[in-house]
Amino acid sequence: MPESAVQVGIVGMGTVGAGVARVLVESADRMASRAGRPVVLKRAVVRDLERDRGVTLPAGILTDDVAAIINDPEIELAIHLVGGLEPARQIMVDLLKSGKDVVTANKALLCEHGPELFGLARELGRTIAFEAAVAGGIPIIATMATCLTANQILSITAILNGTSNFILSQMDREGWSYADALKKAQELGFAEADPTFDVDGTDAAQKLVLLTQLGFGMRVPLETFPRSGINRLELADLRCADMFDCVVKLLATAKLAGGKLELHVQPTLVPKTSPLASIHGSFNAIRVVGDVVGETWYSGQGAGQSPTASAVLADLIDSVIGRTRLTFYRLAPWQDTARLPLQSEDDAEARFYLRLHVEDRPNVLAEICDALGRNSISIASVIQEEAAEPEETGGTSDSTRSEETPVVPLVIMTHKTTVGRIRAAEARFAELGSVRPGHCRMPVADL
Ligand code: HSE
Repeated sequence: MPESAVQVGIVGMGTVGAGVARVLVESADRMASRAGRPVVLKRAVVRDLERDRGVTLPAGILTDDVAAIINDPEIELAIHLVGGLEPARQIMVDLLKSGKDVVTANKALLCEHGPELFGLARELGRTIAFEAAVAGGIPIIATMATCLTANQILSITAILNGTSNFILSQMDREGWSYADALKKAQELGFAEADPTFDVDGTDAAQKLVLLTQLGFGMRVPLETFPRSGINRLELADLRCADMFDCVVKLLATAKLAGGKLELHVQPTLVPKTSPLASIHGSFNAIRVVGDVVGETWYSGQGAGQSPTASAVLADLIDSVIGRTRLTFYRLAPWQDTARLPLQSEDDAEARFYLRLHVEDRPNVLAEICDALGRNSISIASVIQEEAAEPEETGGTSDSTRSEETPVVPLVIMTHKTTVGRIRAAEARFAELGSVRPGHCRMPVADL
């Protein structure tokens, strides 16, 4: 082995780990030229030594014992690709304590334990790089941590979960069922091992926490802002969005609103004229607005083996050449520098899409308009599909609720209002016998 080679260990050989290992082995010359030293994969920790990972490694690299990396002083740099919180946290602590710089893709871990882990790394003189933790192959961490640092960030609006975006695209454009699209996302390696956090908005929210920390200088705990995912959407909502010349996207937003910081992750109607509407499949996109730079856009593959491996390997090279150290110690963009109050969810402003299930009988529309009007919500548009004419019964016309009263979808687009006002109107809907439980509400992102 050449004297100056940097020896690397990978902990976790799932989809991304196998992609990283393949490039290290198959493109060793390119890695050596970019890092200025040969980069040698010395050990890779797996759970199952027998499993085929689609990559051929030299003999003696695979091990099922993480201590083989932790206790090897020749391994300078650890690629930490263990998902979840534990034992991922303890493994990272042990790697740092054993004197290694760490590259990780684990956003859940940094979202939950970032201050502790970054603090420990700094105490020990080590670094943690995490480009792969947000938006796969898009270089957004480096951009936020270095290229945009002269700005006061005004807003971040992003599609940050490739699995959700893939599912929405396949349902909307190809007519797939939700279940089939999710299964395919798992097969293609976009989804997490347990895809619950992909589809319930948690994965995007964890990434938003990291971007908010970098952009606004504030760590906002995950549980302090609203999040919802695509798992409760219906195909009908995708179809109705189309009637308003919109598509549905899972949007993560952090923005300054009247001196407060507003954060949320939610399915959102995006006008087809917005660049976000053309982000399909596993692609992610991020719009960042800064007071000096103005509006900037980033897009690329946000999930999957190769794009995420690209981000991990860039971090590896940066760690070897010393660029990570410079950012980590000189700029330290993950330290809290701001204390902005959080905007209350009720005060968030938008136009809203509502899809209600209502009884098709006299005065129902008037009741709903009244509930909205009493809460100062102005209606921009109403769509009600025509139901079949009720059959003549010979009796007198009756405007009261009955078992036979047909129920129809009623879709309303409001003018700009607040979540608080919409919630007050929803409380009134719940009291009306004419509105059936279970409705869909989505904001519209006008950008
Ligand atoms: N499961 C994630 C996604 C990829 O679908 O975006 C890793 O962050």
